[in-house]
Amino acid sequence: MSADKQKKAAAEFALKVVDNDVKIGLGSGSTANYFIEAAAAKVKRDKLNTIFVATSAASTALAQKLGMNLKNIEDVPYLDFTVDGADEIDPQFRMIKGGGGALHREKIVASSSRFVVCICDESKKVETLGAYPLPIEVSRFGVNPTAWKIEGMLPQLGYTDVKMRLRANADGKPFMTDGGNAIIDLQMGKITDPERLENVLNNMPGVIEVGLFIGLCGVVMLATDKGVQEITRP
Ligand code: 5RP
Repeated sequence: MSADKQKKAAAEFALKVVDNDVKIGLGSGSTANYFIEAAAAKVKRDKLNTIFVATSAASTALAQKLGMNLKNIEDVPYLDFTVDGADEIDPQFRMIKGGGGALHREKIVASSSRFVVCICDESKKVETLGAYPLPIEVSRFGVNPTAWKIEGMLPQLGYTDVKMRLRANADGKPFMTDGGNAIIDLQMGKITDPERLENVLNNMPGVIEVGLFIGLCGVVMLATDKGVQEITRP
């Protein structure tokens, strides 16, 4: 089964959280899009009163197009579930997210949710995080000094072979997040201590969000060619 079919299967499996009077955060990315489409169809078919909060302009546009009952995060202080994809997830359910650039809003919505469900294809499951470049959302003001500080700090944590890249669009112009920030992608190799790395990066001026999601995900719905497995955080 292709990765795309697995993404769809995981998304459809997660439909079990879509119910009456439930508030659900909608993630961003291709897997989350499958969930948004399936959830919209279920709500319509079963005439459910389900409230949704989106994590990006793209998810908002899709949910609006599908006529979903979309609320602003400011009006919904907590959510029951967030259903979102991941770029990588390790055995402790620590994740790298932000491949699509929505990490800041995704983390705010995930941390406002009682339960975070990660839906993913099997390519996302890793033993150690870091093969996928770690996105860091940074202020556009002072982006170069922030990058230099990050570069200078990483060897002190034992990361000596890091490639750093300012994310750009296809036209070569710097990528801008929904919040108007830039993204620096760090090709780290194995991230041996994600908690410490997140902590140190979070304390650096100019850093707005780190694409490490730790202690947030409670359940993974992992699609493989044998079907979708639901795994609860150990
Ligand atoms: C967006 C994300 C996505 O969840 C992540 O990039 C996975 O994307 P996809 O489902 O398209 O593989 O974090 O910021």
